[in-house]
Amino acid sequence: MTSTSVNWQIRARRLAQQLADTGVLDDPAWRAAVESVPRHVFVPRFYVQQPDGEWSETAADSDAWLDAVYEDVPLVTALAETDNGARVTVSSSTKPALMLRMLRALQVRAGHRVLEIGSGTGYNAALLAHRFGDENVFTVDIGAALVDTARERLAELGYTPTLAVGDGRNGLPEHAPYDRVIATCSVPTVPWAWAEQVRHGGLVLVDVKRGAHAGNLVLLRREEDRLEGRFLPKWAGFMAIRDHDAAPPSKSSVGRVHPEDGERTSTPLDPAPWSAPVPWLLASAGLPRHLGFGHLGFTGDGPEWAVFTGDDGSWCAIRMQPDGHGEREVRQGGPVAIWGEFETVHGEWEALGRPGWDRLGLTVTADGQHRVWLDEPDGAHGWSLPT
Ligand SMILES: C[S@@+](CC[C@H](N)C(=O)[O-])C[C@H]1O[C@@H](n2cnc3c(N)ncnc32)[C@H](O)[C@@H]1O
Repeated sequence: MTSTSVNWQIRARRLAQQLADTGVLDDPAWRAAVESVPRHVFVPRFYVQQPDGEWSETAADSDAWLDAVYEDVPLVTALAETDNGARVTVSSSTKPALMLRMLRALQVRAGHRVLEIGSGTGYNAALLAHRFGDENVFTVDIGAALVDTARERLAELGYTPTLAVGDGRNGLPEHAPYDRVIATCSVPTVPWAWAEQVRHGGLVLVDVKRGAHAGNLVLLRREEDRLEGRFLPKWAGFMAIRDHDAAPPSKSSVGRVHPEDGERTSTPLDPAPWSAPVPWLLASAGLPRHLGFGHLGFTGDGPEWAVFTGDDGSWCAIRMQPDGHGEREVRQGGPVAIWGEFETVHGEWEALGRPGWDRLGLTVTADGQHRVWLDEPDGAHGWSLPT
């Protein structure tokens, strides 16, 4: 099927209506972009992980493919093999509702120059180019083959934004300054290069994550000496930024943990990191820089332990099933008591009234300091993220 022979417009209009119904597509100009840019050209195949961990491929020429491409779902579009032979996601087409939510938050105006970190399929760049013109859109990805195919697909549709291969942490200095920077991969810290390349008063929208769930999208404004702004109220998660054009090395050492060796305590808290993303971000100030998460000891009822591992040898394991009093057994070892640290910060967060993302903000300065704050930048409560 070619882009001209498939009946995609009706599906694109249906997707736009669905996005409008959920409130993320209230701007007629963005609606026109969603209805006009064929997502299927950027996603000629996608991959779905099966329960056994293997990936199945759905490619063009099937109705299942075309239907999925115009549903409001993220689609995995590129896989790579890790050092231990597993295939992992290295690129995807973001869920359309999230893309539109971000584009709206970014407040792009006519004439603004926009830098995207993470070109991926090129679809987001196409939406931007459709609205603001090729000359105002710049996008960089660490994946050389991804950039090549994105460029071809954009050109097939008549879009010619500037695409570059490189580490997005460096921005794209040769085309700076920009009015907006949007990152579609998560970063543990915001690179100062982005601040240097964005005009004063310009905006940077990025997912700051210290672990799979410890963080969220934050909209930062370029002030004289800092980037500063608030987290978006609703949580979102992007794939983590990579250091190389390859599968990221596996940082998790969950399989090497032996819960019975650890010091024993108990907790009433849910061990799932997605149940408490705010306290996990705040706790990251006192936790190892890289935190892996996984499960251990599978039984008929599911996994026995939730496990966190730090890159410094610290670890903790929490039983998935609580006892009759709602308490779960905790085991931990290594230099940092991961669960103990998390529980302390969780307690402080509860004492503050369990503030959500809407009450939190971030200040980044040229020396690399990252300070998360509650309500106001110079308010009483702040947490410094390790850099
Ligand atoms: C969610 S995908 C981007 C989706 C894309 N915006 C689209 O519309 O298809 C994340 C992308 O970030 C890219 N990425 C990861 N690390 C990077 C880095 N250091 N510099 C630039 N891009 C990077 C990945 O290769 C991947 O294509």
